[in-house]
Amino acid sequence: MNDKVAVIGLGKVGIPIVAQCLSKGMNVTGIDINNQTIENLNKGIINVDEPEAENIIKKALERKFFVASTKFEDISECDIVIVIIPLVIDDDKNIKYGPIENLTVTISKFVKTNSLVIYETTLPIGDTRRFSEMLRKEKNIYVAYSPERVYAGRILKDLATYPKILGGVDEQSSRKAEEFYKKLLDVKVLVAKNSETAEASKLFDMIYRDTNIALANEYAKFCQDTNIDVDEVIELANTNPFVNIHLPGIGVGGHCTPVYPYFLINKSKVTIPSFARKINERMPEFGVNILQKELNKIGKSISESSVLVLGLSFRPGVKEPAFSPSIKVIEELKNHNACVYLHDPMFSEKEIRNFCEYGNLNANYDAVILCTAHPEYLKIDFSDMKNKGLKIIIDGRNVLKKEKIKSLGLIYRGIGK
Ligand SMILES: NC(=O)c1ccc[n+]([C@@H]2O[C@H](COP(=O)([O-])OP(=O)(O)OC[C@H]3O[C@@H](n4cnc5c(N)ncnc54)[C@H](O)[C@@H]3O)[C@@H](O)[C@H]2O)c1
Repeated sequence: MNDKVAVIGLGKVGIPIVAQCLSKGMNVTGIDINNQTIENLNKGIINVDEPEAENIIKKALERKFFVASTKFEDISECDIVIVIIPLVIDDDKNIKYGPIENLTVTISKFVKTNSLVIYETTLPIGDTRRFSEMLRKEKNIYVAYSPERVYAGRILKDLATYPKILGGVDEQSSRKAEEFYKKLLDVKVLVAKNSETAEASKLFDMIYRDTNIALANEYAKFCQDTNIDVDEVIELANTNPFVNIHLPGIGVGGHCTPVYPYFLINKSKVTIPSFARKINERMPEFGVNILQKELNKIGKSISESSVLVLGLSFRPGVKEPAFSPSIKVIEELKNHNACVYLHDPMFSEKEIRNFCEYGNLNANYDAVILCTAHPEYLKIDFSDMKNKGLKIIIDGRNVLKKEKIKSLGLIYRGIGK
């Protein structure tokens, strides 16, 4: 008989996981606390940008293989429960455990004996075992951790490509989870020694990237006022097959990289990750400082300047403002009393106004700061803006055509170039 799976947390990752389970003939109950999400899903409307998932879910609804619900008791029919709600931090970087602990208690109430609960939520090391103790108070439950390493917007593709890591809280839980993922995915399944190892693999992966970017940012700061172009140096250095320096930029955003390093930083004595975080968190300020210096050089102050910020999304081509460096750039500019405008092709004028004044690409500005490398921005011909008074372009992603911009008589500065 096919597995009955419950997926708890029907967001950017949860919905594609539902679709993946359905595509393997599993019977799925999706659970979420958001009534609107549930209502939409039961009509076949999905709120996330995964077009293939929508088709799969629509077909499964017709065949009654899928139902979405806000009722946690519905998991009592399921053999496998996947938890994929986010664990977040507060403004002081403390982990907000309330929702996931409450959820664990709820699962323990309704889950049936001998079922398998898998945490896919990014967790601090040791939490799966701690949650397993809460789950197993009254019945035998198998518990495992399996990190999601996918990218929003292309999750089904990533699920079909990346090896799947998992680790159980004991041998039997590992075997149960391995059996499940071998049915669910067509990729290699890697069984870690225990849940802690699997949890660490996700955090080490994120922190590696954050730290690598921080190093690139430090190199960029060094190169900024020299005759060295940081991108050129990195490209040259990376021709060594043992070197993979990432790209510098005006900041790191999204739900993951700015948050999850704190899951290790807060609970250990490691030093480099917290150093790296601080460097990356200060990059928006660094970008605004470059602008300030360039304005001063032409006899203008930032407080009498109008600045257009290009891009709200933290990543090109994705409509996601979470922890976006653009938000900090806007804040910094406002702290300097600049007149700030924001543009992003993925957001409506109304949505933009929740963050800043809306900026039209045809209006007059003294300066532009590019924060997101949306493909549309790479095609902008700045000559019209130059004719209307534009003087400076700060390329926060080092993606614009420096020579072309300079040939228009504009000042160009990148990050480290
Ligand atoms: N988004 C990504 O690109 C990505 C990539 C890899 C891993 N992840 C991991 O996936 C997890 C989920 O992230 P996401 O991007 O899908 O989040 P999301 O914000 O898009 O969706 C989360 C969903 O969970 C629901 N939810 C919150 N609390 C709940 C509760 N107590 N019970 C039931 N439902 C609840 C919300 O209503 C929402 O629908 C995170 O741990 C994240 O680290 C995300």
